[in-house]
Amino acid sequence: MTAPTPIKKIVLPVAGLGTRFLPATKAIPKEMLPVVDRPLIQYAVEEALEAGIEDVILVTGRNKQVMEDHFDHAYELERILQERGKTTALEIARHMLLEEGRISYVRQMRPRGLGHAIWCARGMIGNAPFAVALPDDLIQGEPGALKQMVDLYNQVGGNIVATMQVPREDTSKYGVITPGKTKGKVIAVEGLVEKPHPEDAPSTQAVVGRYILQPEVMTYLASKTIGAGGEIQLTDAMAQQIGKQPFHALEFDGTRFDCGDKSGWLLANISIAMDDPKLRALLRDRITLS
Ligand code: UTP
Repeated sequence: MTAPTPIKKIVLPVAGLGTRFLPATKAIPKEMLPVVDRPLIQYAVEEALEAGIEDVILVTGRNKQVMEDHFDHAYELERILQERGKTTALEIARHMLLEEGRISYVRQMRPRGLGHAIWCARGMIGNAPFAVALPDDLIQGEPGALKQMVDLYNQVGGNIVATMQVPREDTSKYGVITPGKTKGKVIAVEGLVEKPHPEDAPSTQAVVGRYILQPEVMTYLASKTIGAGGEIQLTDAMAQQIGKQPFHALEFDGTRFDCGDKSGWLLANISIAMDDPKLRALLRDRITLS
């Protein structure tokens, strides 16, 4: 096999309405909700950079301009921090900036579903394979889930989805794969279905918000076919590629938190705080559950 084209671009769809986290998400995008000290969107960008990805494309919607500001200089703040000699804070404010020109934004004018959001980035993707991460799915992993997926992609090429085992009663919240030949954590994908009822689900191996996709997925998305929930579904477009291109699932090493929901967001905060010795000690001293 010739070496697969390297994955250098990622699409981060951030145009959803975030209805599950109202009222917190009424005026601020859910991707700007902090987990301990960083907004969700920053975790996704850092995970992408760790995987060797160079170009970040955000698919935004109304009320999302604050994310552009987050990834830009804040001159007034930086000047004041400099004047006051607050070098650590200054370093933190600047540390997360990408190289100029490496982050771009495209607007999804109506929230018509994840598949439609990805299609909105077609002009920036062109003819190269690309990654997708949903920033509200925060994944704690060493290395990060995207790095694990890019490493696999470099061996097998094609399309890759991140999956995890879920209880059967939860299959209707996810895209679910029909598993084929399995080697360790790598599963050949023979089918994909969005939000199946537990009794119809082909397995309990559920897709979470990390993907590596071939550009041909855009062809099906262009047909704007409506799927589950009345939305244009990425799952339906990916399912079209099965049998035509290599298609694998990687049961990644790590823990995924659905931060689009308050219980997942709360658990993510606790889990990430536990990695910090000071916060861990604080939690141990202050929280007693009966
Ligand atoms: P969700 O299914 O979490 O939908 O989207 P949502 O609208 O953001 O949130 P709820 O369910 O109302 O609380 C999964 C990902 O797809 C993006 C979201 O921003 C999120 O990253 N998305 C979804 C879009 O960019 N556009 C859409 O039309 C729908």
